[in-house]
Amino acid sequence: MTPATIKPATYDTIEVSKLTGGCGAEISGVDLRAMSNRQWNEVQQAFVRHGVIFFRDQELTPEQHIEFAQRWAPIDINRFFPAVAGYPQIAEVRKEPEGKKNIGNLWHTDHSYDEKPAMGSILLAREVPDEGGDTLFANMYLAFETLSEGMKKMLRGLSAVHSSVHVFGPKNDRSALGFKGTDQVGDVIHPVVIRHPLSGREALYVNADFTTQFEGWTVEDSKPLLEQLYRHAVRPEFTCRFRWRNNSIAFWDNRATWHYAANDYHGARRLMHRITVAGCALEAAA
Ligand code: SIN
Repeated sequence: MTPATIKPATYDTIEVSKLTGGCGAEISGVDLRAMSNRQWNEVQQAFVRHGVIFFRDQELTPEQHIEFAQRWAPIDINRFFPAVAGYPQIAEVRKEPEGKKNIGNLWHTDHSYDEKPAMGSILLAREVPDEGGDTLFANMYLAFETLSEGMKKMLRGLSAVHSSVHVFGPKNDRSALGFKGTDQVGDVIHPVVIRHPLSGREALYVNADFTTQFEGWTVEDSKPLLEQLYRHAVRPEFTCRFRWRNNSIAFWDNRATWHYAANDYHGARRLMHRITVAGCALEAAA
């Protein structure tokens, strides 16, 4: 997918309904196993426009899930997640009835600890609880655009450190959530305000799970401003909340949104399959 494929959104072959004024749209009228070229083009437009798109009743086999992902970009296998048996490309997001914690239970975006953070993540619901287990999303274009001009100007000049060390390194063991221990951890630097590679819009790019500090600032100096941005970025007006059913799909843009997996379904199983597709190095807006 390249910027050249993005045109003003008009939909003749699919239906697109926004979830909220903040972000997200549900797409109907398409079978992801058999999309026409026109439908595929319109699905891409909806993705860029809404930041996260949702589909219902998509009975995909693992092979069809992989095929759909590869239409967007090569698969970027997450090195920390457990994989679905027989499918190293598919990460398993699982909570058993006796489990206490779930994966993704804080606002974040995926893979920002990589030099080339993943474009997006395609989450397919295999087994969802009768109640609870929703996923919330927040719009990082709005998060940036609604800051004061002075704050925007300052942030455009900053970069930040994104680290996988404190999350997946030896001191912070998330093995209870099924994450694999690995020594492939490290720090990378990204601009705090990126020019989105597909839409060309400015977006806030910090990450409550992985950003440790601004480049050239101490952790202590960075904390108050980062926390202010984290609070601001998830104002209800920027968000939407998706209620899952089995065979629903969410595909979110990791450069334009954050997400949060609610942990309110104790005693029930929730099983999701996630494929992450490759992105690119991120460029500063200014
Ligand atoms: C994730 O953070 O990738 C998981 C989201 C979810 O399970 O809803």
